[in-house]
Amino acid sequence: MNSTQDLPLKTTTAKRSPLPPGPKGHPILGVMPDFNRDILGFILKCREYGDVVRARFLYVSSYFIYNPNDIENVLSTNARNFRKSMSLRSNFFHRLVGNGLLTSEGDFWRRQRRLAQPAFHRQRISGYGEVMVDYAERIATRWDDGEVRDIQRDMMRLTLELVVKTLFDSDVSGDADNVGNILSGLVKPFASQATLKWILDNRLPTPEHRRFHKAVGEIDKIVYRIIGERRDSGYDQGDLLSMLLQAHDDDGSQMTDAQLRDEVITLFLAGHETTALVLMWSWYLLAQNQEAESKFHAELDEVLGGRLPQASDLPRLKYTEKIAKEVMRLYPPAYGVGREAIEECEIGGYRVPRHTQIFAFQWATQRDPRYFDNPDAFDPDRWTVEFSENLPKYAYFPFGGGPRQCIGNYFAMMEVVLVLATIGRRLKLSLAPDEVVELSPAMSLRPRAGIQMKVESRRSA
Ligand code: HEM
Repeated sequence: MNSTQDLPLKTTTAKRSPLPPGPKGHPILGVMPDFNRDILGFILKCREYGDVVRARFLYVSSYFIYNPNDIENVLSTNARNFRKSMSLRSNFFHRLVGNGLLTSEGDFWRRQRRLAQPAFHRQRISGYGEVMVDYAERIATRWDDGEVRDIQRDMMRLTLELVVKTLFDSDVSGDADNVGNILSGLVKPFASQATLKWILDNRLPTPEHRRFHKAVGEIDKIVYRIIGERRDSGYDQGDLLSMLLQAHDDDGSQMTDAQLRDEVITLFLAGHETTALVLMWSWYLLAQNQEAESKFHAELDEVLGGRLPQASDLPRLKYTEKIAKEVMRLYPPAYGVGREAIEECEIGGYRVPRHTQIFAFQWATQRDPRYFDNPDAFDPDRWTVEFSENLPKYAYFPFGGGPRQCIGNYFAMMEVVLVLATIGRRLKLSLAPDEVVELSPAMSLRPRAGIQMKVESRRSA
């Protein structure tokens, strides 16, 4: 089946259009066993059925969409006909992030997004550059020449501290490992989003379930502490937390502590692991690509001449930015986005009954040979202006798109480039001997067991 590129998505009822093809799967479980066995492989394999593929998880009907035009229609052009997918509405996830920006819908979401948006404007974000560089330099100076470190853990800790410091002007360095461990442990239950647990929403009081609730309780304590301190001080620090605290509804009512808590945890979660993974995969890919690593070092030497970077250097750190883009193409932290059809509609000429779960996978489309030559190769140089301009808009969508596009995209790009430059200016990272990295897609695209890397001073390397 070929691409259905130019067919618009119609939100009118189209009863006679066919249902898309797809794997049959198990008579009861549907594709769940195949999906759980190898999530990334399954997603790629399904593309062989066409640009729109039907896959049933138990009783839940899902479509996988691979074509940039269809992805644009769902995420952007006809976004109003879709809400977030069922997996984000599970009790588990709700207990963690409540009604924060990532999960809320409708007028409530619109208001929260309006309130939070100014904290993410480019100008405001530039002001965070100094903290990003300071914190990155602090860890780089702590590492010993020749030491082997788990780079995933280091990057997770750094990005958590940064999101908390920049958006909430608070410090969790004492709690950072704890919060980080709790958060990453918390998302484990979503590891295979198609498990029975996800669909039946785990209502049973299993030990795992109890651990989950206990861990959320611990995070709550830290978050309520941050909110309480700020309410007590009454001081407007001009950061995101101050903005949210001061926001009024038309009737003068303000956000409750519980609403604030949901936004804070959402930003902890959405803002730290994703960025940490891009940093980690960058070190991993650079360590295996000599030519790219040499170009990276040459750019840092030329632009910085040995000093620390600052936000005003960003326009000249072009190659470093291309590294970040290419890393997010090959290892997109959010490797899929999901929606649910509110009303029956049509995608790519196929009928989409209401409540169908629709998934677009960055993992597949960003490695599609129709849009990327030599798609599995790490090649930052492919990101010329001309290439970017000619690429279909939704062939590359690491930050999603449309109204629900990542609010932190500039924040993340700036953080990745500045942290890479700060650490890469003085250090070189190589894979520890015999280190074999396996992918373990959970909520985000993680390695199964961290990545052990050897740190060397660039002068002695
Ligand atoms: C490289 C790093 C990041 C990646 C790859 C990423 C990816 C994404 C994606 C794909 C979405 C859209 C999800 C959907 O449409 O269902 C999203 C939404 C979101 N992201 Fe990010 N993100 C990153 C960094 C950040 C940072 C640093 C923050 C905050 C500090 C952040 C906060 C959010 C929030 C709050 C949303 C929900 C926005 C809304 O629906 O209004 N993200 N992100």
